[in-house]
Amino acid sequence: MQETKKERETAAEEKKQTDELLTWYAENRRILPWREDPTPYHVWLSEIMLQQTRVEAGKAYYLRFLENLPDIASLAAASEEVYLKLWEGLGYYSRVRNLHKAAVMIMEEYGGKMPDSPEKLEKLPGIGPYSAAAIASIAFQKPVVSVDGNLLRVFARMMEYGEDIKAPAARKAALAYYGVGISKAKRPGDFNQALMDLGAGICLPNGEPLCLLCPWKERCLAHRDGRETAYPEVPPKKERKKEKLTVFLIRSGDFLAVRRRGEDGLLAGLWEFPNVPGWLKEEEAEGVLAKMGLWKEDSGCPGELAEFSPGPKSRIETEILRKLPTAKHIFSHIEWHMTGYEVQVPPFSEKEREKLRRSGIFLVTRKELMETYSIPSAFEKYKKIALEEA
Ligand code: ADE
Repeated sequence: MQETKKERETAAEEKKQTDELLTWYAENRRILPWREDPTPYHVWLSEIMLQQTRVEAGKAYYLRFLENLPDIASLAAASEEVYLKLWEGLGYYSRVRNLHKAAVMIMEEYGGKMPDSPEKLEKLPGIGPYSAAAIASIAFQKPVVSVDGNLLRVFARMMEYGEDIKAPAARKAALAYYGVGISKAKRPGDFNQALMDLGAGICLPNGEPLCLLCPWKERCLAHRDGRETAYPEVPPKKERKKEKLTVFLIRSGDFLAVRRRGEDGLLAGLWEFPNVPGWLKEEEAEGVLAKMGLWKEDSGCPGELAEFSPGPKSRIETEILRKLPTAKHIFSHIEWHMTGYEVQVPPFSEKEREKLRRSGIFLVTRKELMETYSIPSAFEKYKKIALEEA
């Protein structure tokens, strides 16, 4: 069928809009380490890291991760300890667990080569529609739109889209809108990244956007109406659940007590300082330490763990040294409000340590705490205190 004049004009205009964006990107793009050599592994790693991490903060983590695990094969062969440690501080540890699982699958099912289609990519653990599109477009030049928060905000302002941008309908509408533009781009990966940069640097989320610098200012409906900050429509946030915790920093000689969290839920499988729900008074803390097998009393049978009911002649050897400062950590849906105690327990015999290990408590050195055990940032304040000399 012959194209009508109107259709030709529309297509030319769409191409012009895409070119305006790509020209702006060529001149203003951010220099970022994952853009230097956008192999599938590099792009994949960066996209997973940047899901919950700001670009500036992500750079150092990205470089360190690659220094240690430079390719998919080395990631697939890495131990949990190693990749968790490299992720320490980034949070949302299921992301790196999935990264590892997917690397193993790529080695086994794809001969070590990352698949290039969004459909196959989405079948890998941890890769959703956004990451699949980002990888397919940036690493393989497939014309698929990666709709993230930046692209949604730019879209909402361009089109004065007044519905909730977190709803699936908004993603669909944005996909349709940008789908036209990306099909005209020689480098679809640049199209997506140009929108990410436009969203991050010009079409700002908080406060006034820098419209005078925007390559699309003359096409933007919200700018035409002076209503940029009215978009996107954001529904009120749900309140986060607040949880109180008491954290124990337990020193025994040169060792510190840590334990592993359960396999499910928040920070699953990571190491932590022993802790319990609620803010405990000192007497209550003593009871908890006793339950953990950490309340030592010299009841006259050296080498054995003491009985926990203090006998008349027993000598309490465990000492609560001090109350620790409070700390707060904010997760996406929960806030932890922590307090803590620093506790000194006399050195344990090997037999006692074995008993503690069986109950899940491990005594580790400072060096091990720094190099081997990944303690999530939620405990950062207490970790710092733990690493200070006692
Ligand atoms: N955020 C997520 N992916 C990104 C990328 N490739 N460039 C810049 N910011 C990003």
